[in-house]
Amino acid sequence: MAGPVVDSAYLKEIEKARRELRALISSRNCAPIMLRLAWHDAGTFDAKTKTGGPNGSIRNEQELNHGANNGLKIALNFCEEVKAKHPNITYADLFQLAGVVAVEVTGGPTIEFVPGRKDSVESPEEGRLPDAKQGVSHLKDIFYRMGLSDKDIVALSGGHTLGKAHSERSGFDGPWTREPLKFDNSYFVELLQGESEGLLKLPSDRALLEDPAFRGYVELYAKDEDAFFKDYAVSHKKLSELGFTPP
Ligand code: HEM
Repeated sequence: MAGPVVDSAYLKEIEKARRELRALISSRNCAPIMLRLAWHDAGTFDAKTKTGGPNGSIRNEQELNHGANNGLKIALNFCEEVKAKHPNITYADLFQLAGVVAVEVTGGPTIEFVPGRKDSVESPEEGRLPDAKQGVSHLKDIFYRMGLSDKDIVALSGGHTLGKAHSERSGFDGPWTREPLKFDNSYFVELLQGESEGLLKLPSDRALLEDPAFRGYVELYAKDEDAFFKDYAVSHKKLSELGFTPP
């Protein structure tokens, strides 16, 4: 499948779409679910077989219906509004651009965005995304399969600074932080503080405290937001480019 021709016209469309996404995400308060869409399109990557990854395949009915993707139709529909105005932009680029803009407009770090991803009509089998009920070894299995590291696992888990769980989607309920529309390091501060009335900790969040390699990063990011932002931007870019070689 051919990728987009990334010429000056395509780059111009990307910049227009970026502006529209800023406005749309701010006015609908949908940064969390847009970030989740980008992550779930990318997070199916398998480094060995080079399948899955940020290739737009989450839009396929079959993949959208995977249990882990419950609720993401809302984010897909928002992206379709932008796609209708910029049909040349691939879904793969659009979803990753939405993820980058979601972090930016909620106060997070600037993440470099390189366009040119191809769309795939093939979806991976169900079960490639992490299971929130599991712990350290599962998280490592899943993220190592993508080619990511312990540091990436902790930094990217900081994405839970945004949004909340919905019982009708995942069976879990509630936000991780007091300001779920602000991208900051409060996820790590709350994680170290332990139980807090009204705030959620998934088993997979708690796992970050159990493994010594994970815990070092949790402690660093809780006390040093600049370190978190710097590492998050690098890890998010890696996630958004799994299996992608810029044209
Ligand atoms: C929400 C699991 C990693 C971003 C959720 C939910 C679960 C979950 C169960 C609740 C879904 C719902 O009920 O609506 C996990 C697990 C991870 C993980 C097990 C393994 C480490 C990540 C990563 C990111 C991310 C890497 C992004 C960098 C989000 C966001 C939400 C969310 C923004 C909130 C969505 C909303 O408010 O609608 N995650 N997640 N998660 N996740 Fe994760």
